[in-house]
Amino acid sequence: MKKIAVMTSGGDSQGMSGAVRAVVRQTIASGCIAYAVYEGYEGLVQGGDLIKRMQWEDVRGWLSEGGTLIGTARCMAFMERAGRLTAANNMVEKGIDALIICGGDGSLTGADKFRSEWPSLIDELVTTGKRTAEEVKQFKHLNIVGLVGSIDNDLSGTDATIGCYSSLGRICQAIDYIDATALSHQRAFVIEVMGRHCGWLALMAGVSCGADFVFLPENPPSENWEEEMCSVISKHRKLGKRKTIVIVAEGAHDRQLTHISPDVVKDLLSNRLHLDTRVTTLGHVQRGGTACAYDRMLATLQGVEAVKAVLEATPETTSPVICIVENKIVRKNLMEAVKMTKDVAAQIAAKDFGAAMAGRDAEFAE
Ligand code: F6P
Repeated sequence: MKKIAVMTSGGDSQGMSGAVRAVVRQTIASGCIAYAVYEGYEGLVQGGDLIKRMQWEDVRGWLSEGGTLIGTARCMAFMERAGRLTAANNMVEKGIDALIICGGDGSLTGADKFRSEWPSLIDELVTTGKRTAEEVKQFKHLNIVGLVGSIDNDLSGTDATIGCYSSLGRICQAIDYIDATALSHQRAFVIEVMGRHCGWLALMAGVSCGADFVFLPENPPSENWEEEMCSVISKHRKLGKRKTIVIVAEGAHDRQLTHISPDVVKDLLSNRLHLDTRVTTLGHVQRGGTACAYDRMLATLQGVEAVKAVLEATPETTSPVICIVENKIVRKNLMEAVKMTKDVAAQIAAKDFGAAMAGRDAEFAE
């Protein structure tokens, strides 16, 4: 019977546990055996109890949970070939040759590297005497399937990553709370949201909350952004607005790539516009809490599709990543999606902001 393992890796996001539940149950419903690798790649390297057989009821109640109930961790050992060799040995021991990983682009890149190295790792297990040729003969190929779990919505090729809408909802809720106190005191608030390389959360929160000004990594403000921002905000105040909301993505910078910190923005609003200004960093609240309906649905449909992709894979199949495009669950080439994502980061680093914006999905670039 085929054995399929599921793992979560990288920063957690709401809906990851729902994805694990869907993979475990679809695996069992397909007549296969399900495993969960606890603590991300660390669990794959350590093996033993961290690679655990899962039954249908083990994932009961996981659909709405935030975070990942099988844990996630940074793992230096897996970056080295020796660590990956140990991981391969642990998988052979449990009889697993298919791995579904829910994580960000870094975690998915690591998974594809593991897949491409797999035949040579298996050979090495035999040449170093860790396994006999007989023991590894059914482990010629490793199937990898990616699911994108990230609050940042930062993988090219998919309209939404698992977690991004829960996080956006959390941000909007927090800004609604802030609005009440801002209105009372006629204050300005500078709100920092997550998004190191991707401004989706900042932009969508800006639209959803009617922010006065938004700072994004992909589309830095003009050279004279200080004047521009102050003039927009003064105009809004003259129109009768009693509060000011400025949203700064954590990776925001100017056109010279100098970081725009919330404190710099606060000082401008205080000193130039004489607004009573406060800074709120939303931090990990954005990654917490239960998954919203959209993330539960996305995690479930994508988890099911990931198992189908494993069962339909041939030795020639390149690793797929499960995406959602125009409301349809689709498979895309994992490494092409990762490359497009990395291209945008490189274009930002090269100050080619036009290309970076064009590289984002159409609805985000507009
Ligand atoms: O998951 C991505 C992300 O949310 C980024 O936006 C943020 O910079 C980072 O995680 C924070 O990660 P950590 O929890 O390791 O501080």
